[in-house]
Amino acid sequence: MTTLVAPHGGQLVDRTVDSSPEWERELLSGKTVTLPEESLADLELIAVGAYSPLTGFMVRADYERVVAEMRLQDGTVWSLPVTLAVDEDFARRIHAGERVVLTGRDGLLYGWMVVQDLYPVDSRVEAELVYGTSEAAHPGVARLYQRPGWRIGGPIWMCRQRDRAVFSRYWLRPQESRETFRRRGWRTVVGFQTRNPIHRAHEYIQKCALEMVDGLFLHPLVGETKADDVPAEVRLRSYEVLLDRYYPAGRVILGVFPAAMRYAGPREAIFHALVRKNFGCSHFIVGRDHAGVGNYYGPYDAQRIFTQFKPEELGIIPLFFEHAFFCRRCEGMASTKTCPHAPEDRVVLSGTRVRELLREGLLPPPEFTRPEVARILQEGLREKVGSTDR
Ligand code: ADX
Repeated sequence: MTTLVAPHGGQLVDRTVDSSPEWERELLSGKTVTLPEESLADLELIAVGAYSPLTGFMVRADYERVVAEMRLQDGTVWSLPVTLAVDEDFARRIHAGERVVLTGRDGLLYGWMVVQDLYPVDSRVEAELVYGTSEAAHPGVARLYQRPGWRIGGPIWMCRQRDRAVFSRYWLRPQESRETFRRRGWRTVVGFQTRNPIHRAHEYIQKCALEMVDGLFLHPLVGETKADDVPAEVRLRSYEVLLDRYYPAGRVILGVFPAAMRYAGPREAIFHALVRKNFGCSHFIVGRDHAGVGNYYGPYDAQRIFTQFKPEELGIIPLFFEHAFFCRRCEGMASTKTCPHAPEDRVVLSGTRVRELLREGLLPPPEFTRPEVARILQEGLREKVGSTDR
């Protein structure tokens, strides 16, 4: 039996339970919080152990230390708050020790929390410390400002799995991804986070990593993203075609990561790495401007932040890559670390430029994106336009 990396904090958390219709009826008679999409995803990720060692939404002592120092109250590294927001009226109606029922916007019961703590937060302080800015133009900060101002914290239980629609084939709980890696005899696995289609640069850094480890866990984020990111359903089709044609089947597993994108750059890179460790990854790719947005973070800030922690505190090895591209003079993929040529020789396109090309009915060049992927993106754009026309 192969040994995979240990989960963060040592134990994989499991907060899932079966429920019965009678039990659900009884629960639903209690006080209820309707979770927005982002929190519903967090509930599930806590419950299946993806956020180990968290066993619930954060109490004040964890929240404050995470925001200020990137550590839980016991000192374990954790870089992003995972909290449940409620309005003040609701917070004043409940008390510590009470059970609160957690439902989705679909009205279904997903779980419950035993409330340990109720506290107001200062969203501006959280924004400055976590996102490095208090500007509402930052999409993660904007979402934070929309949340009500109080938090309830305490352990949770989850009794219902969300309907995953097209993603269900690829949803693997940490226990399942670990089992899959073990069955394949993998010991070292590199995790890859993305909120984008896989362009040639992504493929290049993944394959460089794959030269060094046993397997690649392609783990695209399919939770909430900002409106101009490519929808996850379209991206999924592009991953499928790419894996089918350009990757060795025995060396790659595709799984989906249902969390919302925070766009918190460096802090989110740490979070992404720790979570992938829970899924069984020993290594994690951090490239240029990981989880960044606009010009809020320097291109390598998300790499530099890793030096703030001892390797054994993280327990997952980050693999850093500089800006990658196709170079016409090298006649191949390269990066600023390996290519001596001028910017004019390099095929570099911004996301905005790719969208413009697609809108004009043109495909991005094959040096930038595989034609199969480009065609799927174009179809996706047509579907989007079609759906807004209606
Ligand atoms: S992210 O927000 O999910 O990080 P994206 O999907 O663009 O965004 O990136 C996925 C990973 O690939 C990140 O680690 C990012 O830093 C890296 N990356 C993206 N494009 C490049 C590139 N051209 N060169 C090097 N690394 C890149």
